[in-house]
Formats: sequence, structure tokens, C-alpha cells
Amino acid sequence: MTYPLKNEIYYPKPFVKWAGGKRGLLNELLKRVPKNFNSYFEPFVGGGALFFEMKKKGLFDGKQIYLSDKNEELINAYKVVRDNPQKLLNELWIFDKDHSKEFYYYIRGLDRNSDFKQLRDEYKAARFIYLSKTCFNGLYRVNQQGFFNVPIGSYKNPQICSEELIFGAHKALQNVNISCSCYAEALKFAKKDDFAYLDPPYYPINKTSNFTSYDKDNFLEKDQRELADVFKKISQVECFMLESNSDTDFIKELYEEFLIEFIKADRYINCKGNGRGKIQEVLISNTGTKQ
Ligand SMILES: C[S@@+](CC[C@H](N)C(=O)[O-])C[C@H]1O[C@@H](n2cnc3c(N)ncnc32)[C@H](O)[C@@H]1O
Repeated sequence: MTYPLKNEIYYPKPFVKWAGGKRGLLNELLKRVPKNFNSYFEPFVGGGALFFEMKKKGLFDGKQIYLSDKNEELINAYKVVRDNPQKLLNELWIFDKDHSKEFYYYIRGLDRNSDFKQLRDEYKAARFIYLSKTCFNGLYRVNQQGFFNVPIGSYKNPQICSEELIFGAHKALQNVNISCSCYAEALKFAKKDDFAYLDPPYYPINKTSNFTSYDKDNFLEKDQRELADVFKKISQVECFMLESNSDTDFIKELYEEFLIEFIKADRYINCKGNGRGKIQEVLISNTGTKQ
């Protein structure tokens, strides 16, 4: 099957469903994007809600863009969307056609096979997108062995194969630098007047709100401390920094020398996904003045 490249009609949007995605906060984030900046860094890119929205609004004209994340499967999917959308759609079409409970668990189990890494990149990307669209709450969670272990979600008609999403994202990702790396590595290249948006796994507001298991190494208190140190270091080179995190005393203390603003986000507030509501979060920046 082939698809026409009518990409001028497709708006860029996240092509994976990602827990912690920032679609509900876009207006608040956009208000804080500096008017002028050089390169753009998003080192915890996840679904990339802010990147795609900024792209849609034409805020990147001629700028270098660096997207990265520690999740290897996610980054493989970004690269395949950027470089091989047609092959990816062909694979997704088959996933869409074969979708069932049994098929989901069969596909989920593929990473337990020793030859998983040797599978074609387009197939692995299609598997990743398929799981993100059909699993419970778009959650990405792996067990101690690194195997994806989220149960199937209860969607009547999950949108698995969307030409609009894939070509929209494909167009947005042209000339974008995409890498699988830890945020600290990615930010080493940030310079004066660049802009970095950091959306790390949030520090939990309570014991049942722990959404930080994106990979087998949880993002713990020590990781939040290290991140705050990197935030301070990169601030010294005069790169504009914006970070979202949870409204907790721990986070507010870590960033007390920076501007901390409180915003309401509409999101799930616990890992069971049954606690939807407005929750207060913080946006930390080194651009505004401290109140
Ligand atoms: C809150 S999500 C980002 C959501 C994203 N802004 C969106 O709109 O979908 C956090 C991301 O951080 C990534 N991550 C966790 N630890 C990391 C690390 N040490 N370095 C880079 N990325 C990391 C996770 O894989 C996950 O994609």
C-alpha cells in the first residue's frame, strides 16, 4: 500500500500517546517561550507536544532543533517517522488490521525474544506506536528486565494507522537532530541564547502518584537533585530554560533561586488513571524575575 505525500494539509501533532504529555499545558508553555532564541533543545521529548505545537506556529524558522530522550524505542520511532514514513505506514496498516487482545499480548511479548533488537527499525517503530495507542492510558512502563509490561487499554476504536499523524510529524521532523541520550549529555551543546524546555518525570506528589517509571531506572530524588544542578549550570551559560515539575516542597526548594510559577493542569493524578482533575504544577524558568 502507498500513500500520497499530501503533507502540506497535515498539522504536526504527537504521533504517540504518552503519559505525562503536555497538550493540556500548551498555552501556558507557549506564553513562556522566549521571543528570540537560537537553537531549541527538548531533552525529555516523550510525545513532543510543545515541539509539534511550536512547529505548527512557525516558531522555528531556520533554527537548529535537538530532540532527545533516554527511551531507545521512542527515539527509534522518531527517526523512522522522520526518514521512512511510507514503510512505517505499511507496517502500521497491518497492526491496525490484526488488532485484538491476543495480538496485543503477542506483540507486547516480542521484546522478550533474544532477536528483538535485530528486528527492522520500521517494524519496531510500528510496534512501539501500536502499543502506545492500545495500551492502558498510553503508559510506557517496563519491568526490572526492561520488558514492556502495560496491560491492554479498553479503547473501542484506537487510531493505530493514521496517515495524517505520521506525515504531519514527518514533515515537522525534517532537519531535526534526534538522539537517544540522557538529558545531561544533550544539554552539553546548549549555548547562550538557546532555549531548552525540560519536562522530566515529575517528582511524585504522594505515594500513589508515582508516574516516574518510564524505564527500569526510576527518576528518583537524587536524579531530581542532579537535574537541578544541570539546570543551574546551563543557566550560567545564559541559555533560556523552562522546566515543568510537580508542586512539591522538595522541588520548590531545589529551584528556589529561580522564578517558580503555579499553573493548573488537567490530568490523571494517580497511576490507576481514575483520578482525573485539575492539579497544580510548577513552571520553573530562568528568564523571568523572581517574585
Ligand atoms: C514527562 S515525560 C515527557 C513528556 C513530553 N513532554 C510530552 O509532551 O509527551 C518524561 C520523559 O523523560 C524521559 N526520561 C526519563 N529519564 C530520562 C533521562 N535521564 N534523560 C533523558 N530522558 C529521560 C522519559 O523516557 C519520558 O519520555
